[in-house]
Parts: sequence; C-alpha cells; structure tokens
Amino acid sequence: METGLRDTHVFITGASGGIGLAMVELYLAEGARVTAHYNTDPRELVKSERLHLVQADVLSEDAVRSAVQSAVEKFGVIEHIVINHGIWIEDSVPIADMTLEQWNRTIGVDLTGAFLFTREYLRQLRENVDNVSTPSIVYIGSTAGIFGEEHHADYSSAKSALMYGMTKSAKNEIVRIHPMGRVNAVAPGWVRTPMAEGALADSKVVNRVLSTMALRKIATPTDVANATLFLTSKLAAHTSGDIIEVTGGMEGRTLHDR
Ligand SMILES: NC(=O)c1ccc[n+]([C@@H]2O[C@H](COP(=O)([O-])OP(=O)(O)OC[C@H]3O[C@@H](n4cnc5c(N)ncnc54)[C@H](OP(=O)(O)O)[C@@H]3O)[C@@H](O)[C@H]2O)c1
Repeated sequence: METGLRDTHVFITGASGGIGLAMVELYLAEGARVTAHYNTDPRELVKSERLHLVQADVLSEDAVRSAVQSAVEKFGVIEHIVINHGIWIEDSVPIADMTLEQWNRTIGVDLTGAFLFTREYLRQLRENVDNVSTPSIVYIGSTAGIFGEEHHADYSSAKSALMYGMTKSAKNEIVRIHPMGRVNAVAPGWVRTPMAEGALADSKVVNRVLSTMALRKIATPTDVANATLFLTSKLAAHTSGDIIEVTGGMEGRTLHDR
C-alpha cells in the first residue's frame, strides 16, 4: 500500500529512545528522509545519507530552535513531525509528597518541550508552505493521560494536555497555514523500552497491567511506530484531532484474574 512518505522529510523527537529508534527504522524503510533528535546520547542512531542527527535538551528554547533550523538546512521543509520525547519518573510519588521541582521538570520536558517543537515546526511550515502537500504532527501521549496514573500525576497531566488540549487546538491552527495539515496523537499503554524496563522487571507490576488488557501482552516499540506511520501517511488523509490507542485493549479496570 502506498503511504506517500517516500522522500518526505520526517522529524522525530526522542529518536534515541526505544520507541524513537523503531520509528526511525520504519520511516527509513519507507524511503523518507529522517531527522532524528536526541538529548544526551544518540545510542544506535548512525548518520547516513537519509538520516540527519540533531541534539537538543528540550528545556532550552534556543536548542530546539537550532535543531529545527539544522534539519531544514539539511533536508528542506519538515513535512511531518513526531513529538515522541518524554520522561517518566519511575519513583511512585503521591501528589501530597511531590516536589515542585519534579512537577516542573516533567511538565517542562513532556509538555513545554512539545510546545517548543510544535511552534518551531509550524514556523518553518509557514515559511515553506508551497513545498509540502500533506503536513502533519503526531504527539506520543500515553494511557496515563486517559485513565490517570496514581503517583505519577506530573506525567499523566502532561500527557492529557498533549493528547487533548494541544492536539485539538493545533489541528485547527495548522489548517490556517496549510489546508491539508493534520494533527493526531498516539496513546501507548506499556511498551518494552528503557523508560519502562525498571517497572516491567517487577512481575507484580506486569501481572497488574496485563489483568487490565484484552490482549495480555506488552507492546513492542514497533507497535507504536506502526500507528505513527499510519497517521503521517496519506492513508490517514481524513484523520485529524484523533487519538489512536495502542494498548492491547486496555481498560481502566480489571478484565482478567491475575
Ligand atoms: N515505554 C512505555 O511504556 C511508554 C508508554 C506510554 C507512552 N510512552 C511515551 O513514548 C515516548 C517514548 O518513550 P520511550 O519508552 O521510547 O522512552 P525512552 O526510551 O526513555 O526514550 C526517551 C527519549 O526522550 C528523550 N529525552 C528525554 N529527556 C529529554 C530532554 N530533556 N530533552 C530532549 N530529549 C529528551 C531521550 O533522549 P536521550 O536519551 O538522548 O537523552 C530519548 O530519546 C515518550 O513520550 C513516553 O512518554 C512510553
């Protein structure tokens, strides 16, 4: 099936992480030119003819601006951006005990960082609007933003804001710049990546999680990357403001005996 992604420029944030790396592989296989963003360590990302690496701590406005500029200089206008970077503080911290520092850090990286990348993406789109045909943004949210996540209110609040307030506002703004522009979100449940490996090493956590899912298995990074690829492709040309859940049929209640 033709995705329409060949030779388009796709920018992926947090591309050095588990889900980001799977996205890079998938988009390269589709023939896209990919800018892969990382913060501390590019890990398995290796520069190539169709892969450009950029570094930025999303807590820095200047760094985000430079990363987007570098991408545009290398591969031209960015047609699709997947805003995937994120942090999840592994410690379980009740709101009553959460420091303002933790709250600000998570909101800063997961939500404000997404805002900064969205803003720079839309600015470069506005300047190069005649050179793209189906621009789109995909935010990687989380089921934490749908069901909430006890003792991780910083993370679940940032993810709700991304999937609802941001996705549904930006979908109406992007069309003022380009009439075919779309904005969507993917909400993964638990995925086996470095972010989740600590929690998933505990069999009690795994049993609890699996008891809330129809399909009793943990997602792979490729499961999430596939949904993202679909949303940026021309197969989803009439889909905007939506959330695809990649959760194995998770509900906010127990479905199976543990
Ligand atoms: N894994 C799960 O179970 C799960 C479930 C639901 C949603 N998600 C979401 O999926 C997305 C990807 O998660 P993942 O599991 O692939 O996580 P991961 O392996 O920990 O990767 C996180 C990525 O975010 C980047 N990052 C972290 N802090 C940053 C900062 N200050 N500035 C710029 N980049 C920063 C990291 O860059 P460096 O490592 O280079 O610093 C890395 O590329 C996240 O938004 C996460 O919330 C994950």
